[in-house]
Amino acid sequence: MNIEQRIQAAMERHFNEVMTESTPPTLKAAMRHALFPGGARIRPQLYMAVAMVSGEDAPLITDAGAVALELMHSASLVHDDMPCFDDAQLRRGKTTVHVEFSEPIALLTGDALIVMAYQVLINQSTKKAISRKHANRLLEMMHVLSQGVGAPSGIVAGQAWECESKVDLWKYQRAKTGSLFTAATCMGAIAAGAKPDPWRELGESLGDAYQIADDIRDVIGHVELIGKPVGQDAEHGRPSAAQVLGLEGANKEFQRLIENAARSVPDCAGRHILREMIYKESERLVPQPEYERYLQMVKVNPQRVEKAI
Ligand code: IPE
Ligand code: IPE
Ligand code: MG
Ligand code: MG
Repeated sequence: MNIEQRIQAAMERHFNEVMTESTPPTLKAAMRHALFPGGARIRPQLYMAVAMVSGEDAPLITDAGAVALELMHSASLVHDDMPCFDDAQLRRGKTTVHVEFSEPIALLTGDALIVMAYQVLINQSTKKAISRKHANRLLEMMHVLSQGVGAPSGIVAGQAWECESKVDLWKYQRAKTGSLFTAATCMGAIAAGAKPDPWRELGESLGDAYQIADDIRDVIGHVELIGKPVGQDAEHGRPSAAQVLGLEGANKEFQRLIENAARSVPDCAGRHILREMIYKESERLVPQPEYERYLQMVKVNPQRVEKAI
């Protein structure tokens, strides 16, 4: 089983464990819609890779952390797409939850996914065979996850910056996206019984790079390829790296952060595997040949530019 299959199986297992038959059917269907088949699942993959190179010794604990991370991320997307935020119709190539079901159901779906993230970690800690050492790891993971999603500097804070008249772009991006990446790398170490601090910089750099890439893709991306609407940042007046630095400046900063992420991987046996994963992900996010082609098109004929990725 590769990492993607392992994450998929763990998601299904935990979903079926928590979502019993007594769940209101529409809510359950909406939660399924938000979770399956899912997007790139990059946060749990990063987390699992860190756990594995840190000497993972309790696979069920690792699985629970991966599921909790993806649940939090998916919840943030459901809420982010709602009319009171980005009012998006499409996510991961499908209609968004509030469009497919309703606005009240979307609100509750996001809430239920957030609570479920904690249920998954708590359920794992109350399993019969669990040792105190492993239960403590789950508790620490919950703590780190909370920092990644809540106030003062997690996703909720990041989204709240959109309601302020003055926003520091980097603080906003670190909170809305970087914080969950940082939680992912730190939780990966904790799940394996290792110290989280050496993994913090990797999460921060990768998370910052990821949001810059998302801002670039919002400009040069094609709706059918990225599976969500484009041009949203300009339409909603959201602070964006592409707008503040320009496309070329944003791409340079993206590349710098990717280099920094690769450099920051702590010395460990699987270091080269993680570095490869980082470079592969960077090419998926902003493929450089396509990006260059886009810039060329803008120079030649700014009126007739086709989307690049
Ligand atoms: C989208 O995240 C929202 C951001 C924080 C940029 P992803 O690009 O990871 O979305 P999925 O999970 O692959 O759909
Ligand atoms: C949202 O950022 C990040 C979240 C925490 C949901 P965006 O609004 O740019 O993400 P997309 O482009 O809708 O995926
Ligand atoms: Mg959005
Ligand atoms: Mg975006």
